[in-house]
Amino acid sequence: MTAGKLYQQLQQQQQVQLSMCSLKGSLLTLAILTLISFTYLSFNSLHSSPSPSISASSVSLLPATETTTKTVVVDVGDGENDEISDLYHSPRVFKLNYEEMEHNFKIYIYPDGDPNTFYQTPRKLTGKYASEGYFFQNIRESRFRTLDPDQAHLFFIPISCHKMRGKGTSYENMTVIVENYVESLIAKYSYWNRTLGADHFFVTCHDVGVRATEGVPFLIKNAIRVVCSPSYDVGFIPHKDVALPQVLQPFALPAGGNDVENRTTLGFWAGHRNSRIRVILARVWENDTELDISSNRINRATGHLVYQKRFYGTKFCICPGGSQVNSARIADSIHYGCVPVILSNYYDLPFNDILDWHKFSVILKEQDVYQLKQILKDIPDNQFVSLHKNLIKVQKHFQWNSPPIKNDAFHMVMYDLWLRRHVIKY
Ligand SMILES: *[C@@H]1O[C@H](CO)[C@@H](O)[C@H](O)[C@H]1NC(C)=O
Ligand SMILES: *[C@@H]1O[C@H](CO)[C@@H](O)[C@H](O)[C@H]1NC(C)=O
Ligand SMILES: *[C@@H]1O[C@H](CO)[C@@H](O)[C@H](O)[C@H]1NC(C)=O
Ligand SMILES: *[C@@H]1O[C@H](CO)[C@@H](O)[C@H](O)[C@H]1NC(C)=O
Repeated sequence: MTAGKLYQQLQQQQQVQLSMCSLKGSLLTLAILTLISFTYLSFNSLHSSPSPSISASSVSLLPATETTTKTVVVDVGDGENDEISDLYHSPRVFKLNYEEMEHNFKIYIYPDGDPNTFYQTPRKLTGKYASEGYFFQNIRESRFRTLDPDQAHLFFIPISCHKMRGKGTSYENMTVIVENYVESLIAKYSYWNRTLGADHFFVTCHDVGVRATEGVPFLIKNAIRVVCSPSYDVGFIPHKDVALPQVLQPFALPAGGNDVENRTTLGFWAGHRNSRIRVILARVWENDTELDISSNRINRATGHLVYQKRFYGTKFCICPGGSQVNSARIADSIHYGCVPVILSNYYDLPFNDILDWHKFSVILKEQDVYQLKQILKDIPDNQFVSLHKNLIKVQKHFQWNSPPIKNDAFHMVMYDLWLRRHVIKY
């Protein structure tokens, strides 16, 4: 089904309701629909089983209305005719709600702060914190920005931790700088005080991430923090905060796909042994003949892209938590078409409330490391092929662009924010 068709359905539903009841009733229905989709998506994010099964089919909430009325064809003009895929927890709600977001979502960016220091503009669009840079750049290039705060659903606090680190600011000082900046916005503008920050958000991909907000208790408690360190067992608050995917761009080699016959290695991992689970992974599997586990890191910059090329030849890429649970390895695996094996406890996967990760990855607990080979060998070929095919379909969601394009990482983050927007102001 095309986005155009769906939009048309929405229009039809509205029209039917308009003729039956009042405009008020129709708006109420829309509000309820939005509420249902939000509740449903949030509920789904709670739903995670450790089994790598790809079964569970999605439930559609919306009644089929193909047969109702013939009305004006609305061309939403996105030029993309994706079929609705069950990669999403609730595909039809996602399509409809995404369209609504594209048309209506408005963000106000506070203009304060010297862009030559830590504010407003990104440090760079490359390296392991590229996601932060892209967000800062994309939000300005996008249609979501409004210069009228009264139009805004959400308020962006544009201070970059990555840029502070670039200027050698200590972690302690970062917290103080964020605190002073937010306090100055609270004193100068009336918007924060309306909800004590509940319609404000902060974005960082830097490791210090959630910690940089520690100086402002309401920034932690009420505001939405979009961060690359979404571990449930640290400061990240599930359902409120947003997991930002860590993507190391630009990618050294093109995206993988339709290449399962070349994927002859069962599993691959190479990296720093900087966490308990990585030490165990290396210790248990380093000499295995089917799992390609290197206890020494392969330098990305040297060795003729040896590290990246391994992803093309492998079925399953092991993604154990490091010093931070998140790492660019997950996005690398997705890009190169190697099914990620998430090996970590308490981790809020990016877009977990939108995408059904069980359809394109294998999610294991750390204790599964000892049975890793058997678990992967037990996954039938047809299931691997299905995981791989789905993985190729989600590649676009883990890719940043400038300017941003439909369904890319930026728009997925915006959708997560849209789901969390505050609709009532005082
Ligand atoms: C931290 O802030 C203090 C006080 O402003 C300053 O003297 C010091 O140089 C700063 N240190 C770093 C590493 O930014
Ligand atoms: C918001 O509330 C704080 C704390 O009560 C106050 O200090 C600040 O002046 C208020 N901001 C505005 C713009 O009134
Ligand atoms: C498989 O690998 C060979 C040799 O490296 C390469 O020439 C070929 O294009 C690959 N096939 C696919 C579908 O990527
Ligand atoms: C792997 O091989 C090396 C070199 O032979 C040996 O020192 C090490 O103990 C082996 N590791 C395991 C887990 O068997």
